[in-house]
Amino acid sequence: MAAKSAAPASGGRAYQLVDHYHDVVVVGAGGAGLRATLGMAEQGLRTACVTKVFPTRSHTVAAQGGIAASLGNMGADHWQWHMYDTVKGSDWLGDIDTIEYVTREAPRAVYELEHYGVPFSRTEAGKIYQRPFGGMTSEFGEGPPVARTCAAADRTGHAMLHTLYGQSLRHNAEFYIEYFAIDLMMDDDGRCTGVIAWNLDDGTLHRFNAKMTVLATGGYGRTYFSCTSAHTCTGDGNGMVARAGLPLQDMEFVQFHPTGIYGAGCLITEGVRGEGGYLTNSEGERFMERYAPSYKDLASRDVVSRCMTLEIREGRGVGPKKDHIHLNLSHLAPEVIHERLPGIAESARIFSGVDVTREPIPVLPTVHYNMGGIPSNYWGEVLNPTKADPDRTVPGLMAAGEAACASLHGANRLGSNSLIDLVVLGRAAAIRAGEVVDRAAKVPEPDEKRSDEILARFDRLRHADGGTPTAELREKMQRAMQEDAAVFRTQESLEAGCKRISQIWAELGDLKVTDRSLIWNSDLAETLELENLMACAITTVYGAEARKESRGAQAREDFPDRDDKNWRKHTLATVDAKGKVKLSYRPVHTDPLTTLDEGGIDLKKIAPKARVY
Ligand code: SIN
Repeated sequence: MAAKSAAPASGGRAYQLVDHYHDVVVVGAGGAGLRATLGMAEQGLRTACVTKVFPTRSHTVAAQGGIAASLGNMGADHWQWHMYDTVKGSDWLGDIDTIEYVTREAPRAVYELEHYGVPFSRTEAGKIYQRPFGGMTSEFGEGPPVARTCAAADRTGHAMLHTLYGQSLRHNAEFYIEYFAIDLMMDDDGRCTGVIAWNLDDGTLHRFNAKMTVLATGGYGRTYFSCTSAHTCTGDGNGMVARAGLPLQDMEFVQFHPTGIYGAGCLITEGVRGEGGYLTNSEGERFMERYAPSYKDLASRDVVSRCMTLEIREGRGVGPKKDHIHLNLSHLAPEVIHERLPGIAESARIFSGVDVTREPIPVLPTVHYNMGGIPSNYWGEVLNPTKADPDRTVPGLMAAGEAACASLHGANRLGSNSLIDLVVLGRAAAIRAGEVVDRAAKVPEPDEKRSDEILARFDRLRHADGGTPTAELREKMQRAMQEDAAVFRTQESLEAGCKRISQIWAELGDLKVTDRSLIWNSDLAETLELENLMACAITTVYGAEARKESRGAQAREDFPDRDDKNWRKHTLATVDAKGKVKLSYRPVHTDPLTTLDEGGIDLKKIAPKARVY
């Protein structure tokens, strides 16, 4: 059990802090947070998991289609093919060492999940069922689509969360549920010594002192007006990192999923197209055949989203306003829908009134995933790069999952590579922590000055008495991002976006919080979230404006080509309290972990080339 004591209030402090001492504190209980927590607890590290929602309600629950691993259960597959697809999917911005590590380890990590109890769907032979997903191919992109995505019907993330939570409890991890992490405790030497969090349920404030802090807080989809992300996806870890003066990486790369339900934004899994579904325009044409003759509806997501947007722009959208696209699956056998896609049949009925056995689902590209985040290596160690040392690590701090940028996905993530990222890199963080955390050492004592600063910010927001309600400013931010940092971008739209988001930053000083209480004060929680979102939004638009090329999810109409000579590099963005963004860059890791002689990939296979599907 972790030591726990009530701290004396330091000189005149308005808030009492409850101190906790652990080897490791993990912030977030989605797939990455739970896999890290489980891995740490299994090794006997005293582990706390602090989460703002109940673990099984974390946004991983919404991951439908599956988890990529080259098991080869439905036909030949190899981790090198998966590696090639991921490098190409990333539009050559992904770090090659991370991509090799994840694709190599993926089968082992999936079998571990199976043994932990994830109820995967099965083939006739009793093996884990796998389906095709966009951009997942055979023969280094020369062969047909490959069935690589391991699925538990269309509720894979849901199944994973329940299993990982149960296993973490079995290994005595301590959960602090409905605790909102406010800020990181960083000491004068730049080491992270834990995090301060607010217990939403009883209003108490807690200081989690730890030898290692792991941020697994998810993405920041809610910077946009329409997204598949839960309302809780507010970039909390990214906000904390930005306020600690550390950089965020590649924030401009925001993924639009081709098939969000029109009007509602809810996800309809790519697994629908993997099972044989297809997109049509107002002329009933399967337009993807024109744009991606080989892989058609199973091209990479950024490509499909752009093609859909072009069809709508050129007047071939469906519906009275010609502003969306049809996803057809009524030709699929009812038992395929019943067994493999029951969840999306229900979502389509609830959110668009459609019976998928008879009618197409109205869909639209919708913000879905953030490739950027907290720079880290594939062991989860957070980076604070310098020119001399672009891989310099921050002592005591790790990140994993969508909050992190390791960078497995580079400029664009392939569908089902997110769940494998969570599991392999959450597990890697645990392996690394097992090596570097000194179990015999004392947990660092809390820094009272830093704690006072964190509480002062909390108190200022709690008593914010300006003229602008949080919800009003949040909507302004979301609309600016939706309009100015969309699927297609131009200098004009991005300059407008920078201007609008900077103005909104200035308006943070005029926020009004009406509820002053500490118990279930959702007004205050949303205000803390808005500050986190704003750190993400401002680094996204400034990074996008500066990047004068098109790559993956960054599609610039004024710079339509990828420019490897000048831009095959990661963006680093810091933002100060006044909203001033500073950009710098660090090199992409282009070396794999193993050579061809050692059984690795042939480097010629992953050399940059035109990205066609
Ligand atoms: C989907 O099922 O399409 C979403 C899963 C993912 O984004 O990888």
